[in-house]
Amino acid sequence: MEIKKIGILTGGGDCSGLNAVISAVTKTAIIKYGIEVIGYKRGYSGLYFNDFMKLDLDAISGIMHEGGTILKTSNKDNLFNYRLEDENGNVEYKNVSQVAVDNMKKEGVDALVVLGGDGTLTSARDFGRMGIPVVGIPKTIDNDLPATDMTFGYNTSLEAITDALDKIHTTAYSHDRVMVVEVMGRHAGWLAVEGGLAGSADVILIPEIEYDLKNVVETIKQRDERGKHFSVVVVSEGAKEKDGAVHVREIVEDSADTVRLGGLGAVVTKKLQALIPDHEVRNTNLAYIQRGGITSQFDRTLGIQFGVKAVDTLMSGDYSFMVAYKGGEFTQFPLEEVVGSGIVGETSEGGSKVVDPNGHLVQSCKAIGIGFGD
Ligand code: F6P
Repeated sequence: MEIKKIGILTGGGDCSGLNAVISAVTKTAIIKYGIEVIGYKRGYSGLYFNDFMKLDLDAISGIMHEGGTILKTSNKDNLFNYRLEDENGNVEYKNVSQVAVDNMKKEGVDALVVLGGDGTLTSARDFGRMGIPVVGIPKTIDNDLPATDMTFGYNTSLEAITDALDKIHTTAYSHDRVMVVEVMGRHAGWLAVEGGLAGSADVILIPEIEYDLKNVVETIKQRDERGKHFSVVVVSEGAKEKDGAVHVREIVEDSADTVRLGGLGAVVTKKLQALIPDHEVRNTNLAYIQRGGITSQFDRTLGIQFGVKAVDTLMSGDYSFMVAYKGGEFTQFPLEEVVGSGIVGETSEGGSKVVDPNGHLVQSCKAIGIGFGD
């Protein structure tokens, strides 16, 4: 099939690097292949409502380094099980994917480039099954996808965490306080460990190692004895107390992944304060700070190469693939194999790429005295 026009959309949570990918996809399509590009707005809902913007070289000029996505995003619009509500408030879920395909035909869009996590790429696979040429690009700040060694957005988030910890340190020192800092990452501790290590955390609590607060107190006391009356405790949102459960912030219906984490830092702060009344314990949740900001050099370079690879894959006639970065090379995997398998993200069956408690990263932290509460 000859591809003359492609549509691109971003689904799921945003991250830095999305605009670098959008920019690269657009430039590659226009400069290398001489074809047109449009960008659907707010993920799949743009396909449903035929809400799009033309992407030419002017439209993407100057966006490459910016955080977020100029196309906006949505993590609720599964067109294969779409929530429809009538004027009386009656709700039904319907497969409205044909509306999207008809809209594409109307605009002469021959193929899709879809950026997202497991939910977004599952729909990409399903559009592929309907005969639409599609290529997926994985994205998350959590870096928890086994299919790719690195995702863009992760490095920029680490920079934000490291910068925040540097700032927290000076106030922690000045007030002799224990500062609890919560970071994202869902059920993987990558952001916490790599950010915490670079940001000189004293304790790092991650989902992969159950913690006992008595051990955290022990680390803080040992520091006291060395004359260090302040400590920084990094808490990954998905960490679990020994024999405890994960702290769920809310359940978001209509989302591919309904469980939202967040808020564990406040819980840890309260419990720690009760255990060490002689210290002041303060809580900071870095939250969405980790998802914004100017994209790092690493994520720009990675994002651009993901974008180029996606267009090359499409134009070579390889449809229903997801591009990935493995072993230093840009490669591709069939969407049929990767989605829903845990390879492109957490599923109900689990399977995401997590931190190895016995691996070199955690052991390096331990070697330099960082506690994990175990
Ligand atoms: O998966 C990326 C991520 O930022 C997680 O680290 C975090 O738990 C989640 O998204 C937050 O989702 P939301 O934007 O729906 O609050």
